[in-house]
Amino acid sequence: MCGITGYIGNRDAYPIIINGLQRLEYRGYDSAGIMLFDGQEINFSKTKGKVSNLQEKVENDISASGSIGIGHTRWATHGIPNDLNSHPHLSQSGDLAIVHNGIIENYDSIKKELISRGYTFKSDTDTEVLINLIEEVKNQENVMLGKAVQIALSQVIGAYAIAVFDKTKPDEIVVAKLGSPIAIGVGKNFEEFFIASDASPFIEYTKDAIYLEDEEMAIVKIGREVAVRKIIDDSNVDAKIHELQLNLEQIEKGGYDHFMLKEIYEQPKAITDTFRGRLLAKEGIIKISGLENNMKKFLNAERIIIVACGTSWHAGLVAEYIFEDFARIPVEVEYASEFRYRNPIITEKDIVIAISQSGETADTLAAIKLAKSKGAFVFGVCNVVGSSIARENDSGAYTHAGPEIGVASTKAFTTQITLLALMALRLARAKGTMTSASYRLYLQEMELIPKKVKQVLEIDSQIKAIAKKYLLSTNCLYLGRGFNFPVALEGALKLKEISYIHAEGYPAAEMKHGPIALIDDRMPIIVIAINKGHYEKIVSNIQEIKSRKGKIIAIVTEGDVTVKEIADHVIEIPEVEEALSPLLTTIPLQLLSYHIAVMRDCNVDQPRNLAKSVTVE
Ligand code: M6R
Repeated sequence: MCGITGYIGNRDAYPIIINGLQRLEYRGYDSAGIMLFDGQEINFSKTKGKVSNLQEKVENDISASGSIGIGHTRWATHGIPNDLNSHPHLSQSGDLAIVHNGIIENYDSIKKELISRGYTFKSDTDTEVLINLIEEVKNQENVMLGKAVQIALSQVIGAYAIAVFDKTKPDEIVVAKLGSPIAIGVGKNFEEFFIASDASPFIEYTKDAIYLEDEEMAIVKIGREVAVRKIIDDSNVDAKIHELQLNLEQIEKGGYDHFMLKEIYEQPKAITDTFRGRLLAKEGIIKISGLENNMKKFLNAERIIIVACGTSWHAGLVAEYIFEDFARIPVEVEYASEFRYRNPIITEKDIVIAISQSGETADTLAAIKLAKSKGAFVFGVCNVVGSSIARENDSGAYTHAGPEIGVASTKAFTTQITLLALMALRLARAKGTMTSASYRLYLQEMELIPKKVKQVLEIDSQIKAIAKKYLLSTNCLYLGRGFNFPVALEGALKLKEISYIHAEGYPAAEMKHGPIALIDDRMPIIVIAINKGHYEKIVSNIQEIKSRKGKIIAIVTEGDVTVKEIADHVIEIPEVEEALSPLLTTIPLQLLSYHIAVMRDCNVDQPRNLAKSVTVE
């Protein structure tokens, strides 16, 4: 999971590539590099660290002129993050340059073969092996770059999105894709082209984009339509030009200090966008076309299996509670990474719901492919339009949360739950597992959620004050029951990933089976204790913690008195039906993690070792 960019046209390539890399830094940020062709020579500069480090280095290293170039921001797989392992990589002759997102699994055997033919390597990367393989094919077969890339790629096993430049053919860049995404922005009259892992680096230049499919490659040449071909047999592909819906404002911070904060605050709008045109509360209608078109399949399903990773997996757990409660369909929630390797029992009567913000998570994609191969119907819940998972599914629905750039997922989580709850309600109605009165009540409740989320956001300063008291904690426990048990997991994940404080989420009743041993007077325990469901039970759990002197931060319903008396801090949320409460209880946990991380001086949007889309397994 790296970010790649490229430009070929008449403009100065350097600022386009650097800005593009900055927008792609969510994909990886342990090193960065750029190659520019000035009409005569390839100039390149690369460094460990962020794109800002690269900018400083370029000023000392090279002349940043040229209207053709490629760039890269890296999340290391093969080889530690250092200058040498950074991309671009050049071939032995120095004529070819490549940037790569993905993994070449059989690089070792290819490398040995190339070494036996006299090649030497400067880095530990699989990418340097690939560019030398392309060069070797080009020389041996006496073919042009496009053909050499095609032949070389048919010999590799793995995943890739690549952009390759050949100084002896400087009016074109060759790109190819398998497993990792790549988009080509098409300039007016084909006078210029932009290449990137997603469309964000070029939205101010063009709204026309081609998304390569797996096993496709393209020769991007000035003044000519993009020639897309199948890697396997070199046959022509009729590539569609898509009109981008993205705009610049959506991918900028808009006055917030961090993307994460912006995205937390965007939730009322994002949730509204998720149910726009789908939820007609007054009329008592829910209409999600991907679901309507496959209603029979859903009604006949014996089981729903949800596959996802990370935060999306937590949204899947919330959905399990909601689907089983509302629609009485058995649900199993699986980590995609486990599911794909554990020989699961899947039948044609199963529906697999794949949840993914990015739509690019490698394990989720592989889980879908496995489910499809066993005859299950796969329904995708994705945010990124046109992403690999969205394209691979049999059907699906987008969350429409807008771009999520902060590595810590926030609005993706609440919009996934929103969409899945709408689906469960619609199915409950169709199956007759919910009374008409309850159905109507939930629709009205759903419509009020954005307003209630806004109310929670208004107490941000109170949450910030609590954060200040616990910023030096080393461990933290999150407890919830029922619909809010997955929220406890999500709260813990948010804290650990951005503040590096160890945190664990638990079903509250499980505490006495082990974690209670951790509690002492320095341990903050965040308890979701709203007045619905098993309120009395959770009050008892709080008392158990208090007897061991733990510090309690409780998320309670407005007007709560009982927990207020016992807890050290309470954060009040508006009254809400229990099944929809995760949409509100999550918000204070996101804000708490955010403020603690900022106060600890952590890089909130780009936490260490992480990347936004995990496109490697
Ligand atoms: O794009 P996806 O929803 O498939 O991503 C899944 C996880 O990688 C993601 O949710 C990750 O856990 C986030 N960093 C959590 O904040």
